[in-house]
Amino acid sequence: MIISCAKPIDQIVVWARLSALVVYILFGGNVSVYAQLNKSKPVYPGQIWPDNNRNHIQAHGGGIIKVGKIYYWYGEERAKDLDTNYRYVSCYSSKDLVNWKFRGDVVNMTDPEKLGARWVLERPKVYYNKNTKKYVMYFHLDNRNYKTAKVGVAVSDKPNGNFKFLKSFRPLGQESRDIGQFIDDDGSAYLIFEDRPAKGFRIAKLNDADYLSIEKEMCLIKAPLEGGAIVHYNGLYYAIGSALTGWRPNPNKYATAKTLEGPWSEFVDIAPPQTNTYGSQSTMMIKVSGTKSTTVIFMADQWRPQTQWDSRYLWMPLQIGNGKLWLPEPKPWQLNVKTGEWSYLNKKSK
Ligand code: DGJ
Repeated sequence: MIISCAKPIDQIVVWARLSALVVYILFGGNVSVYAQLNKSKPVYPGQIWPDNNRNHIQAHGGGIIKVGKIYYWYGEERAKDLDTNYRYVSCYSSKDLVNWKFRGDVVNMTDPEKLGARWVLERPKVYYNKNTKKYVMYFHLDNRNYKTAKVGVAVSDKPNGNFKFLKSFRPLGQESRDIGQFIDDDGSAYLIFEDRPAKGFRIAKLNDADYLSIEKEMCLIKAPLEGGAIVHYNGLYYAIGSALTGWRPNPNKYATAKTLEGPWSEFVDIAPPQTNTYGSQSTMMIKVSGTKSTTVIFMADQWRPQTQWDSRYLWMPLQIGNGKLWLPEPKPWQLNVKTGEWSYLNKKSK
């Protein structure tokens, strides 16, 4: 009634007020959400990260691949009250790296190699092989004392599983604990693994044909680091790793090289050392190349060993270039995957 009786200008005002009311009802009066309606949802480093079901994402020690326009995030499923005989790997999908849809536990596996109680499946990483059109998962497979030191391999026809266990082995015949994943700009796929006896971490190229075996060793980086992550940015390779302090955070460090074979520079801190990488440990770097800019995101875990289901994710865009890399103080931020640009949620944060 009011609308039909009003003059045009009044109608606009009434419509504006009604729209504001609808937004208020939908978003609980959160004015900042209204203000951000045209922007992507922010990333809140270290806070609960709800999936499409409003459950905190369970993809710890994870890795991400992009197939077509979809990103898949795989990681350790550590939800509360899981059957302790099983180990689980979860899968989430997203088009924008921020809104994640739970695609299920793509691995739910009992002890595949008679490793005994409290056997370990950690840091799963999935590669898509274009030749076989199969999804190939590598993970750290171990016994309770971390003495087995192998990788496990599981394969699926689809990104959302189910992955079937295929085999386990020691890559290049060496002990392998934390693993990391790196896919170069030319599509070549690499496994990064920590080799404790060699006091370093190795970069190994996967066999192009099917990714089921190692083709060759690229390098042994002589630095006792785990949580290995690599990115190729503006003609330089940057490697990040964390010190060997179990679940406790430490100052993560980086080095650079012109080729994966090295030589690699000395490792130096990625953040003020007293922050212990803001309480986190590296798991991967993701490069988002958009129409306007390229952003490299540091993906890390903030472990809560007593309440693992509540472990958090610290994702922050890195300051990177000309051989330098720095992790800015974590604050809420927004990403535009199309343009590759990012900004702080609060413009005054910079
Ligand atoms: C550090 C590793 O990075 C984690 O993945 C896990 O293996 C813990 N150690 C276990 O203490």
